[in-house]
Formats: sequence, C-alpha cells, structure tokens
Amino acid sequence: MRIGVPRESAAGERRVALVPDGVRRLAGDRVEVLVEAGAGSSAGFPDELYVEAGARLASASEVWSADLVAKVQRPSEDELAGLGSATVLVGLLQPLVDGDLARSLAGRGVTSFSMDAIPRITRAQPMDALSSQSTVAGYKAVLLAAAASGKFFPMLTTAAGTIPPARVLILGAGVAGLQAIATARRLGAVVSAYDVRPVVKEQVESLGATFLELDVEGAEGVGGYAVALAEDQHEREQELLALHVGESDVVVTTALIPGREAPLLVTKDAVGRMRPGSVVVDLAAEAGGNCEVTEPGRTVQRGGVTVIGELNLPSSMPFHASQMYSRNVLAFLGLLVREGDLVLDFDDEIVRETCVTHEGNVLKEPVAA
Ligand code: NAI
Repeated sequence: MRIGVPRESAAGERRVALVPDGVRRLAGDRVEVLVEAGAGSSAGFPDELYVEAGARLASASEVWSADLVAKVQRPSEDELAGLGSATVLVGLLQPLVDGDLARSLAGRGVTSFSMDAIPRITRAQPMDALSSQSTVAGYKAVLLAAAASGKFFPMLTTAAGTIPPARVLILGAGVAGLQAIATARRLGAVVSAYDVRPVVKEQVESLGATFLELDVEGAEGVGGYAVALAEDQHEREQELLALHVGESDVVVTTALIPGREAPLLVTKDAVGRMRPGSVVVDLAAEAGGNCEVTEPGRTVQRGGVTVIGELNLPSSMPFHASQMYSRNVLAFLGLLVREGDLVLDFDDEIVRETCVTHEGNVLKEPVAA
C-alpha cells in the first residue's frame, strides 16, 4: 500500500504529519511512503532526510491519491476535491466543531479518522494527539507571557536590589495547563492554578503550585472532561477569579469544554484590575477565548495589559510538535496497517471512536451547543 504525506497548505501551518523517523518505521517491502517535496522543510526536516529514511518524493497529486493520506490540518477545499473514495484520511479534523468537513468527506465516500478523537484510554496514550499538542501549547504560552512581560519570573537577589518572583495564575489544569504550570515553575515564578475538576488539585500541588479552592460546584463528565457549569456557578467563578486575576502578573487560560465555545473566565472587569505591564495568554482563543478581551489571532492592549490570543501555538514549535504528532500517527497507523495491508477493524474501540466518516456516513457529529 502507499501512504502519502502532503505539504500542509493552511496559512501559518509549519508542522508535518510524519517526520523521517516515522517514515523509516513504516516504509518497507509492502508499504511505500510518498512525501510531497518540501513537506517537512518548515519543521526542520529537509527532503534528503525523508529520502534517506526510505520515502519517495512525489508530486501533490500523487501523494493525495495514496491509499492513506496522513495530515496535520483538515484538507483545503482544493485538496478535498482531489480526494477519492479509495483514500483513507487521517488528520486533526475536529469533527465535534466542523460538521461541514465531515459531510463533505462522507459525500465523497472518503473514510476518515480524526487524531483529536482518540479516546482517552491507557492503550491509546501513545496516539493521543490532543495531549501531545497541548503539551507544546502549554509550554509555549508561558514563554510568550515571559517575553511579553516587563518582569523577571524568578526571584533575584542582586547588588541592584532584590526582585520578587512573578505571580502566575493558570486557569484550567488539563494537559496544557499542567505543562504551563511546570514551565512557569521552572522559570521560578510563584504559580497558582484553578480548575473546575477538583481531582486535579493533587496534580497541581505536585508541580509546586497552589490550587485555588473556590466555592464553585464543578464536575467531571465522560472521559475525564469537564462539564459546563450551571449559569449561577459560572458567574460565581468569574467573580471569585477576578480577585486572583487582579493580583497576578501573568494569567494563562486553557479552559475548554469539548465541542463547545470556551467558557468565559476572565471578564473585562478582571483585566481592568490587573496592573499595567501584566500579561494574559489565552490558549482557548481558537474556541472563542476564556478572556473577554481576547481577539483570536491577535495581541491587544487593554489599560496597559497585553492580551495574547495567538492561534495554533504548536505550529510555532514545529520540530517537536511534528515529532510528537508523527509518533501519535505512527502508533495509530499500527492499528490500520497490518503487514502492508490496510485493515479497518471496527471492533477495535480506538478505530471505531476515531472514525469520522465511512461508506458515505458521518459517524461523529458536532455536539449541540
Ligand atoms: P481540555 O483541553 O478539554 O480542558 C482543559 C481544562 O479546562 C480541563 O482540565 C477542564 O477541566 C478545564 N475547565 C473546563 N471548564 C472550566 C472552567 N469553567 N473553569 C476552570 N477550568 C475549566 O482538557 P484536557 O487537557 O484535554 O484533559 C481532559 C481530561 O482528559 C482530563 O481529565 C485529563 O486528565 C484526561 N486525559 C487522559 C489521558 C489518558 O488517560 N490517556 C490523556 C490526557 C488527558
């Protein structure tokens, strides 16, 4: 069989779905890997490394007509038009928010799998692309905040005086939030964090941060994800958080509810309480944002506070983001490719849960808001 690795076409996307090491593990007597020329170049993986790893460089049209196409981002309209029913597509297709894409893939008879739908079960951990990419985003968010802040993160005792450590608040302590906590702690900041799932308290504390105990009734739903708060509890959360936001030099927000708009945690009023020079990084910008001031894709100033709503942070660290994503894809392909043949075993929970379209049917729909 032939596996195709196209060059990503989405604006600003620098990642690639398979790095040369992944190609080396796949390519063999019965599997040919076709890589579009330049596919890995913006992630730091030049064509020569792919060829050394056993890939054949090919044109876009040849790559897109492979038996299986491995992507990072959803295909563009042009790429979709070139997809035939014989192709299996694997990528970050966001079926819970992008119903049009799923309908369009189903209309073409394409079988598609979404790497962001990998179930959160132990066996699937090596395939968990949401986790790997959130790790990158959580780390980078803190670096962006540190770069935009006019303050040191660590406490410094110098001949020019003692500098107190920065106070960093992380909202949402899932994979991205925990990585943000760890990164801010490594830089020496004093870190506190909050999440509606009380079970994360221990994880937050084990990283050396303080867990804020707010009197808000939160809950954990299916798969360990948070469920949306009741309206009165949500308002209460915003009010209680405003006090802590106002005392922070940096706030990194990461709160998401699968398939829904991100919960609003940091109101305009809360931003108004922050000292000039403070920074908010809103990792939920793609889902509308956790901060009322956030403008997705932009950095804005409000009363001297910098609010960063940059999108697709994993793409800004393309080498390691691609390396991790490629390992996720490789592990997933371990379920679909057996001894050089494509095998779709829908009795396997991971294959079943990850499948977005098959034989003209949409199997994963956006959840009602
Ligand atoms: P996510 O990206 O969906 O959300 C980020 C965080 O925001 C979550 O911790 C959530 O509780 C929090 N949040 C939502 N609404 C909030 C609000 N109003 N205020 C404050 N915080 C709010 O979460 P992520 O990182 O994808 O993790 C989801 C779950 O999956 C967690 O339970 C995590 O431990 C679990 N997980 C399991 C894995 C496995 O077993 N293989 C691998 C990775 C994660």
